[in-house]
Amino acid sequence: MKQEPTASRPVRIAVIGAGNRANKYLEYARRCPDRLQPVAVVEVNDLRRRAFARDFGLPESRSYVHYDDFFADRVEADMVLISTPENAHFDPAVKAIDAGYHILLEKPIAQHLDQCREIARRARERGVLVGVCHVLRYHPYFVKIRELIASGEFGRIVSVEHTAAVGLDRATHSYVRGIFRRVRESNPILLAKCCHDIDFLLWITGSHCRRLTSFGSLRWFRAENAPAGSGERCLACAIEPDCPFSARDLYYVRRDWVANFDVPPGKTLDETILDELRTGLYGRCVYHCDNDVVDHQLVAMEMDDEVTVSLSMEMFTNDDFRKTHIRLTEGEIDGDERTLRVRRFRGGYEHTYDFSDIAGQPFHAGADLQLIEDFIGALRNPERPFLTTIDDSIESHRICYEAERSRHTGTTIRMERD
Ligand SMILES: NC(=O)c1ccc[n+]([C@@H]2O[C@H](COP(=O)([O-])OP(=O)(O)OC[C@H]3O[C@@H](n4cnc5c(N)ncnc54)[C@H](O)[C@@H]3O)[C@@H](O)[C@H]2O)c1
Repeated sequence: MKQEPTASRPVRIAVIGAGNRANKYLEYARRCPDRLQPVAVVEVNDLRRRAFARDFGLPESRSYVHYDDFFADRVEADMVLISTPENAHFDPAVKAIDAGYHILLEKPIAQHLDQCREIARRARERGVLVGVCHVLRYHPYFVKIRELIASGEFGRIVSVEHTAAVGLDRATHSYVRGIFRRVRESNPILLAKCCHDIDFLLWITGSHCRRLTSFGSLRWFRAENAPAGSGERCLACAIEPDCPFSARDLYYVRRDWVANFDVPPGKTLDETILDELRTGLYGRCVYHCDNDVVDHQLVAMEMDDEVTVSLSMEMFTNDDFRKTHIRLTEGEIDGDERTLRVRRFRGGYEHTYDFSDIAGQPFHAGADLQLIEDFIGALRNPERPFLTTIDDSIESHRICYEAERSRHTGTTIRMERD
């Protein structure tokens, strides 16, 4: 197990949690079987586990429902991908480290800062690599922003204004009705969604946050805001035809966000959606869910070099992309994932890069596959660092946890260097 993979054979991967994300990353194994070979799967959902095992030709003996059984078998693998829900990261991560596997860990690392630190400490002691899936670091648009700043052509950063527009459909699907709706089972949305944004902001500023403050609340998706005549489910609701949050409209009419519905053998997608609307999580009225994550949040940060950074997480918008405006001493850079405009103050130079052809493309415009490629490269050549180490990621997580503390206590938090 501890023998490092060489270029002469594929890296052997075991997957824990074969859902949406795992299937994205494992596309790499479909395309490059000589570089990545799935050797085991752990998945509690029967349909998903069987589909994954079938897809990659895994024997019954290498398909597990419980990860403890997988670890007990001491399966020969180089790495484990942990892409379970957020409340099931810490325990399998610790067990994987103790067993000597390298880990690619979906964000957020864990549910508490001390757990994040413990994973990092154990990995250091055991000599295994833990990479965290901050895919924006591989996305051509975000990489370009960093390159432009690093070129020095526009001077030094003065301030950054960043909006993470979650978009109504994603918001109601994931953060009101779906699996990221409750802090206890997942995380505050700042971690669940915006740890990527904070990581990006630290990556481009290359600075340390020394003070921060945050505001936000669950302003709208609460029972007391339910309009008169609304029902508990969209299929039995008098105001559904006019409701902007209708699950019937989202899933049945527009067919958006249905990729994660498991279609059982013998059923059609139509029938599956209707079952979901009648009895599932995703058929519930947005005002009658058991959600508690906030629906809007602001974080203001002051960095060590006096740079100021603001992050705004917004659900009430049709936009489902990130918008960033960076003001520098000699110019400015602003973009929305489709276009990226750069302007230099002196001389009037202006240029717009067009990313519209890759916006919204699968696998985060290829970034998911680049990330896997980078991790495999780092395993094969330990001299070559992986782009998002757990230590980098812990700093962005720390900011999210501290922003939550600020929001709850109404105070400005001073961040000592770790
Ligand atoms: N990097 C990104 O851009 C990105 C995007 C979305 C989600 N995520 C993160 O990826 C992780 C998974 O999210 P997802 O969207 O793939 O969710 P998902 O529900 O599609 O997949 C998770 C899978 O884990 C399985 N599972 C649950 N408990 C398990 C257990 N104890 N053992 C084995 N399997 C178990 C579930 O049945 C499910 O199939 C989360 O941490 C989420 O925050 C990252």
